[in-house]
Order: sequence, then structure tokens, then C-alpha cells
Amino acid sequence: MAHETIIVETRGKVGLITLNRPKALNALNSQVLAEVVAAASAFNADPGIGAMVLTGSEKAFAAGADIKEMQAMSFADAYTQDFFIGWEEFTRTRKPIIAAVAGYALGGGCELAMMCDFIIAGDNAKFGQPEITLGVMPGMGGSQRLTRFVGKSKAMDMCLTGRMMDAAEAERSGLVSRVVPVAELAEEALKAAAKIAEFSLPSVMMTKEAVNRAYETTLAEGLRFERRLFHSLFALDDQKEGMAAFVEKRKPNFSNR
Ligand code: CAA
Repeated sequence: MAHETIIVETRGKVGLITLNRPKALNALNSQVLAEVVAAASAFNADPGIGAMVLTGSEKAFAAGADIKEMQAMSFADAYTQDFFIGWEEFTRTRKPIIAAVAGYALGGGCELAMMCDFIIAGDNAKFGQPEITLGVMPGMGGSQRLTRFVGKSKAMDMCLTGRMMDAAEAERSGLVSRVVPVAELAEEALKAAAKIAEFSLPSVMMTKEAVNRAYETTLAEGLRFERRLFHSLFALDDQKEGMAAFVEKRKPNFSNR
């Protein structure tokens, strides 16, 4: 598939998706949505890929949903199309996706980063939910996911005032897993993804599924779900290989079986 708003590359076993609408600071219009969803889905289906990185430019991961595209939209349009529902498919990607965020991650940009499995931020990153300044509110998950990441008080502060959070505050409050110098962001994110891609794919995918279940269920059900997945991994060659390699003091050679 030809892409106009993103760049799609592979680096070994890692799929790299780069948002590429520099003139609009990577604002997320319907074409970006379609292309990102298709690229993630293609990497998900590709047996040669073990993990993905989603990134933007040094100035902007993404400055939000495309305001110019939304400006004239009516309530009837928004409601009948179930506007933004398309991003749900992205969140159903089963292989891990790391968001590598430099510069602005605002509105839908912050929300897209939060749809990924974890966020590595460059030290110039700025996160925010400024929809309130436009007379609207978060619509791609900000009020729900940001609250789960940073708690009620900070989520209310961000969504109600529209202020931005810098990388240090984002790390302090649990929104991002690590902050690195912006010049090293791509390399660090690709390194983390390459490491994940070396592990046994079924155990990686089940780990992602189990952590995500923590957001959807009670602790007792989540623990049971985790144990059942854990048990099922003993049916795989990779469990035997991983544990044998440890005992024999060698590197494991996983077959994803
Ligand atoms: N949609 C459409 N175009 C955008 C955009 C967006 N979200 N953000 C930036 N752009 C465009 C600007 O209109 C401008 O285009 P022109 O050159 O044609 O005028 C270009 O990108 C560069 O932007 P600026 O000149 O504004 O750059 P700056 O460096 O002065 O400011 C900024 C950067 C602070 C990020 C500023 O662009 C900004 O505030 N952008 C909007 C942020 C925002 O409100 N995001 C939320 C969108 S709503 C949403 O996301 C809903 C949801 O929940 C999903």
C-alpha cells in the first residue's frame, strides 16, 4: 500500500511507523488514521515482525486531531459516523507498539501515544489535552486513558485547563516509561522494540494481553486470567528452550512455537 501521510519501514524484526505530515505538525486526519491502522495491521500479520515503534518528528509526535478537518463537522456527522471509532482497531493490534514521542503530543496526539503499549519520550516532549480551548473535550480516549495513567487530579488539571506537561512531569506522573535525550529517542525506542522482538512471540503477546486485562477487569479475575495464560505457555517449545538455555548458561533460540 502506498502511504502519503506516514513512512513505513522495517528494522530487522521491528516495524517502524513514522507520522509524516510536517506542515500540519502531524495532525491526525482520516487519511492518517486509515494509513496508521493499515500499517499496524500489516505488521501485526507479518510473521517476520515482533514489535513496532510509532513515532513522529522532532518537533511533533502529533499536534492533535486535524482541527481543519473537524471544523465544519455537524453533530449529526460526528454521531452517525461514530467519529474516531476507527482508532479502536489500532488498539486491537496484538503485537507490542512503543510510542516514541518527541515534541508536541497534544489532544489526539497524546491519546494516540496512550493507545500504544508504552511511551518513551524525548526530553523535549510536551503532552496535553487542549481540546477544552477549542470548545470541545478529548474524544480519542484522553479523559479515560489519561486518568488511568496519571490519576484523577492531574487528568482533571490537564483536561480542564488544557495546559501542557513536560517530559519530566510526564515521567514523574507515570505517563511515560522513560525519558531520553531527544537525539537518542529513535535509537532507544528501536532498541527496546528489538529486544522485545527477540523474545518468544506468544509469550510477548500474552504478556500484552494480560497487562491490558488489568484495565478491564477485577483483580481476582485478572489474576486468574494471568495464571491461565501462564499455564498455557508450558505447552510451547519456547518455554522448554528458554528454561533449558538458562540452565545451560546459553542464549535461548526461540522458535515462536
Ligand atoms: N490540526 C490541524 N492543523 C494543525 C494542528 C491541528 N491539530 N496543529 C497544528 N496545525 C497546523 C497549523 O494550523 C499550522 O498550519 P498553517 O501553517 O497552515 O497555518 C501548522 O500546523 C503549524 O502550526 P503552528 O503555526 O500553530 O505552529 P506553532 O509552533 O506556532 O505551534 C502548537 C505549535 C502549539 C502545537 C499549535 O500548532 C497548536 O496549538 N496546535 C493545536 C493543538 C490542539 O489544539 N490539539 C487538539 C486538537 S483537537 C483533538 O485532538 C480532539 C481529540 O480529542 C482527538
